[in-house]
Amino acid sequence: MINAPKGTNDMLPADSYKWRAVEDAAHAVAKLYNAKQIRTPVFESADLYLRSIGDSTDIVNKEMYIFEDKGGRRMALRPEGTAGAMRAFIEHNLGESLPLKTYYIESLYRYEQPQAGRYREHFQFGAEFFGSSRPEFDVELICMARDFLNKLGFKDLTLKINSIGCPECRKQYNAALREFLKQHHNEICGDCKRRSEVNPLRALDCKIPSCKELYKSAPKISDYLCDECRTHNESVLSGLDANNVKYVFDGNLVRGLDYYTRTVFEFEYGSLAVMGGGRYDGMCEQLGGKPTPCVGFGSGIERLIAAAEKSGIEFEMPRPTVFVAAQCDAARTECRVLVGELRKKSVSAECDLMGKSLKAQFKYADKQKFKYVITIGESELTGDTYIVKNMDDGSTETVLKNDISDKISGLVLRSIL
Ligand code: HAM
Repeated sequence: MINAPKGTNDMLPADSYKWRAVEDAAHAVAKLYNAKQIRTPVFESADLYLRSIGDSTDIVNKEMYIFEDKGGRRMALRPEGTAGAMRAFIEHNLGESLPLKTYYIESLYRYEQPQAGRYREHFQFGAEFFGSSRPEFDVELICMARDFLNKLGFKDLTLKINSIGCPECRKQYNAALREFLKQHHNEICGDCKRRSEVNPLRALDCKIPSCKELYKSAPKISDYLCDECRTHNESVLSGLDANNVKYVFDGNLVRGLDYYTRTVFEFEYGSLAVMGGGRYDGMCEQLGGKPTPCVGFGSGIERLIAAAEKSGIEFEMPRPTVFVAAQCDAARTECRVLVGELRKKSVSAECDLMGKSLKAQFKYADKQKFKYVITIGESELTGDTYIVKNMDDGSTETVLKNDISDKISGLVLRSIL
């Protein structure tokens, strides 16, 4: 037997409604904010990610799925969604009318050590807003993130936010952080020793507990922000206050990708981030486009579902409506005809496809959680009524054959309202 690759998950029929609920919430909230969906290829030129995510990040250093295609080109499975969205934005001149708000639901690939909430293939609902450096843009994006998480029913997430400044204010900060790392050279891990040379900011994102503890006393980027970055950050925070978005300012939050400037944020459930994002004003120019300030977020769907279930959120499983059971073989054609009529009225309906006995058909209808069962036997074939059985309370109702579709669609409508 061949098993699924390590670190991947099958979405099985019994769980697909949870995914559907998350995706429906994503589409609905995106519509409220006038964000339009985009879809980009699952593989791109590896250079796109090397140039945007940064060569001192774990993603680029350790986790990319890179391969040579049959034409000798170096390609990569997308490890994150922002770079592909930006490539499409530049390639299709989408900057002609700004602002532009986009969103996507897509799979991503990172060669990670699989554990709960960390997979080699995961899915994200992401949003990328192009075109404004104003703090309102950050606030608008974070409000959309908050509304999406609220729509799913979350009440106990923590929004952590920080500003990591611009390349100018980071020069001074990097020097101070490098000095700190030098002083603690013997206490930090091998990766952080390397990071202190190449890009000291990356050390703050280290997952090793002893490094994490030590960095609580490291210099904070917020103490090194230039006037413009400080004002921007203050305006973002007061905008969040005005929109009643609760947050915790976390001077150690840097995020694991190099492209961020100014605002970075994460929504956490316990210690696991269910969403992360921020501002990336330099990426467009860096990839050959016109300077275009942007903000965005990505939210891991597997982590969202796991966190939702742990916090007691129940996703509603949609139930099929009518099962039409055949009491005898002679009734099977009429069962199919009735099912067809019901479907024309947008009522979900099914009849037996396996040659099952009546008892086995009822067992199936019960297991599938059908709301109603109509049984067709000798008397229904010759008469002009059907008996509709309500599977929840066992009650029955006799309905004229001519009225059956309207009656059932009326019942469905009433149960929705
Ligand atoms: P990220 O923090 O790497 O950011 O990923 C965003 C979210 O995806 C995380 O908060 C987490 O919920 C989920 N996630 C990441 N890696 C895994 C994994 N291996 N297994 C399961 N879930 C995972 C980005 O990807 C940025 N592109 C977000 C962004 C968009 N920033 C600006 N625009």
